[in-house]
Amino acid sequence: MADGPAAVVIDHIGLLWTMDAGAGDDGAQALHGAAMREVGAVQDAAVAFDGEGRVCAVGPRAGVRECIGPATEVVDAAGGFVCPAFVDAHTHLVHAGSREAECVMRLAGADYLDVLRAGGGIMQTVRETRAAPFAALLGQARESARRMLAHGVTTLEAKTGYGLELEAELRQLRVAAAVAEGLPQKIVHTAMPAHAIPPERRNDRDRFVREIVDMLGPMRDAGAEFADVFVEEGVFSVDEGRFILSRAKELGLGVKVHADELAPSGGAKLAAELGAASADHLLFATDDSLRGLAQAGTVAVCLPGTSFYLQKPAARARFMMDEAGLAVAVASDYNPGSAPSENFALVMSLAFFHLRMTPEEVFCAATRNAACAIGRGGRAGVLKVGLPGDLVVFAARHPTYILSHYGESQVQAVFAGGRRVYGEVATSRSRGSRA
Ligand code: NIG
Ligand code: FE
Repeated sequence: MADGPAAVVIDHIGLLWTMDAGAGDDGAQALHGAAMREVGAVQDAAVAFDGEGRVCAVGPRAGVRECIGPATEVVDAAGGFVCPAFVDAHTHLVHAGSREAECVMRLAGADYLDVLRAGGGIMQTVRETRAAPFAALLGQARESARRMLAHGVTTLEAKTGYGLELEAELRQLRVAAAVAEGLPQKIVHTAMPAHAIPPERRNDRDRFVREIVDMLGPMRDAGAEFADVFVEEGVFSVDEGRFILSRAKELGLGVKVHADELAPSGGAKLAAELGAASADHLLFATDDSLRGLAQAGTVAVCLPGTSFYLQKPAARARFMMDEAGLAVAVASDYNPGSAPSENFALVMSLAFFHLRMTPEEVFCAATRNAACAIGRGGRAGVLKVGLPGDLVVFAARHPTYILSHYGESQVQAVFAGGRRVYGEVATSRSRGSRA
């Protein structure tokens, strides 16, 4: 329990899921398979934040209310559901323009990779992103992050990959950093100059791959913590991915792979071989490669919004959890070409319906396991004494209602670092306030 009076107490929580698996759990490791359902449920709960914005007490109301002092701000959750704030572990936040015209082409039979090969797709966004002024990129990214916040996302990963040359890639990193300066969210940066091969470099791809490797050092120095490669038939080969990501590891970067998104391409196997932090997409990953990811301690990041938007089959999340014993996370993949929606609530509903995950699994995948996929295990995604006071207060009382009421937000308020950063809640100073 807290040493002194709390700065803020979120009181009258009907149901709290802490994502704390109990005694001996420091919250730093992803939960695997059946353990993803251990959400640390507390009925009639409260959470207290200290003056530094960290959780100083959490659990049944009676105990937490003991740390209410005369100056404590008491927030009335009105019986709603509360969980750790969400972590979006895979976004292409910074880009210019939009590509809705490709939907019409795909609906008429065009293939995602054919559009890219013809110089559209990712390459169209590369051209628009390179040409856009910094302020325009910042405005668009800031608006997207603000929308994510309204859905309870207080930590997100942001990839580069629409520059494909050093200056333009560094500019994407700088835009993402500027977004984080102006908004309450924390952003984890991933260098992804290996997102596409420009058509004019196809005959010269070995040199382009070496140039990508040369970009990684400066990008690390500019704040990137991870490197990611789009390993896919027709994009980067497994050997190219291995070459780039081995060098990334030598530079001290964490490793991620866009793996087996459109065809079985060997990406998941490579991710396991390299001990990647995450392998993402995985629609066409084989049973063996999924088992390999579990052994390597790699988090499987499912992106159900992308499968929906590209009209692909859902990833095999049930196999991942039930058979392979994997730690699964869900993320938005927010980008203009394959997942143009910042609506994290909808992504979670799609995980519930299309990935057939239970509500417990979905919330674990969107919080604790997502944090582990971006190197924030034990720092985000869990409500535990000493960890940041990032949480979501829902107007709804049960997580199943939240997931089934698809496409609508049930978020009442969002707290980051112990401060309310979105929404409205009834608040009082504690003097005179009674249970
Ligand atoms: O994760 N697959 C590669 N990258 C993104 C799509 C990017 C785009 O189409 O602009 C993805 O789906
Ligand atoms: Fe992606």
